[in-house]
Amino acid sequence: MPGKWITVAEKSALEPESAIGVTHGDIDIAIYLIGGELYATDNICPHAFGYLNHGYIDDGQIECPLHGAVFEIKTGRGVTGPFCNDLKTFPVRLVGEEIQVEIPDTVAV
Ligand code: FES
Repeated sequence: MPGKWITVAEKSALEPESAIGVTHGDIDIAIYLIGGELYATDNICPHAFGYLNHGYIDDGQIECPLHGAVFEIKTGRGVTGPFCNDLKTFPVRLVGEEIQVEIPDTVAV
């Protein structure tokens, strides 16, 4: 689906093996720096609205801080726990010092 690239954070805001939450328009996005690579997923857990950027990262997976659902960061696929949907993922890139995410055109900004 075509979209537009938007700057969501500076690279310096993200520590290795961690996540930050950013909001743009109607969507909350988690940005991760894992193994030197950037990833982006929904930041709101599909179970009951936990903020995944406050969760626990281990072995390429994020565990929701509220009830323990676990998702693969790279694919958004639910692995275990009380999730009902996988996480959406977003293309993400580094341009200079800016982290950019491709947002679908259907999202209000
Ligand atoms: S809100 Fe994430 S597991 Fe319940």
